[in-house]
Amino acid sequence: MTQTYHQLRAELTSALTGFLDPEEAQAEGFRWFEEGLGLPRSWMAAHGAGEVPAEVRRKIDAWMDRRRKGEPWAYILGWSLFRGHRFTVTPETLIPRPETELLVVAALEVGQRLKVDRCVDIGTGSGIIAVSLALETDWKLSATDLSPGALKVAKMNAKSLGTAIQFHEGSLLNPVPDPVGLVVANLPYVDPTDQPSLQRELSFEPPSALFAPDRGLALSTALLIQAHARKSPACLLEIGAGQGGELCRRAMGVGWRKALIHQDLAGHDRILVALA
Ligand SMILES: C[S@@+](CC[C@H](N)C(=O)[O-])C[C@H]1O[C@@H](n2cnc3c(N)ncnc32)[C@H](O)[C@@H]1O
Repeated sequence: MTQTYHQLRAELTSALTGFLDPEEAQAEGFRWFEEGLGLPRSWMAAHGAGEVPAEVRRKIDAWMDRRRKGEPWAYILGWSLFRGHRFTVTPETLIPRPETELLVVAALEVGQRLKVDRCVDIGTGSGIIAVSLALETDWKLSATDLSPGALKVAKMNAKSLGTAIQFHEGSLLNPVPDPVGLVVANLPYVDPTDQPSLQRELSFEPPSALFAPDRGLALSTALLIQAHARKSPACLLEIGAGQGGELCRRAMGVGWRKALIHQDLAGHDRILVALA
């Protein structure tokens, strides 16, 4: 039976509605066409009445088998966009989240104001923060992660986007030589007791990229202590909704002069800026 691209897209959106809300299903359907098949909306407008070849249909069916089991689209595709650049992602790296752009924007603002010349991204994952800062500043960038698998992906992304970043394997600031400069991090901050109620997709991401003891606060607290002891001028962290008050108190308690919270578009605590 023949099928047009328009019919295939309608069928795809309806299948995605089986496990996404209608708006998300519509948006993801466009992404499958645009990112997966390389067929943007403009192409659809001109050629959508054309017949779908069997190989395209097979691709969609294979992706749908994986997606129905909860695998996120970015892992099926193998890449994700962050600040307009394409980053390879694998099951060893967290999938970039739009909120993390707020951390990059805050780091640019604070770093420029304090006239820093170097910056370290702790828990770099796929490398999105370090690579974005390397592309948008002339700072000397370094990045760390505990996971060798994530570091391999980060190095690949740094290279393919033409940046020179010093990578170190190890925990927090331990592998980073002095002076550390500006410290930025999107470390795991999810409370492990929330795990049973989380979205099915999250079970495909590495637990070591999501969860931290002490209600999600342990790694952020440890980095605030280390960064202050290592004389960083500022430490910027992505944090969980509702963690701002407690983390500001902890930051001030370990000697930072000022601690501020930036909220995201939904009004949730999202970025902590600790200033020396
Ligand atoms: C939430 S993911 C963030 C990845 C990436 N920065 C991003 O924003 O997409 C946290 C990352 O921190 C790493 N990580 C976890 N514990 C760490 C530690 N003690 N020291 C360094 N990295 C750690 C994980 O392997 C993971 O790649």
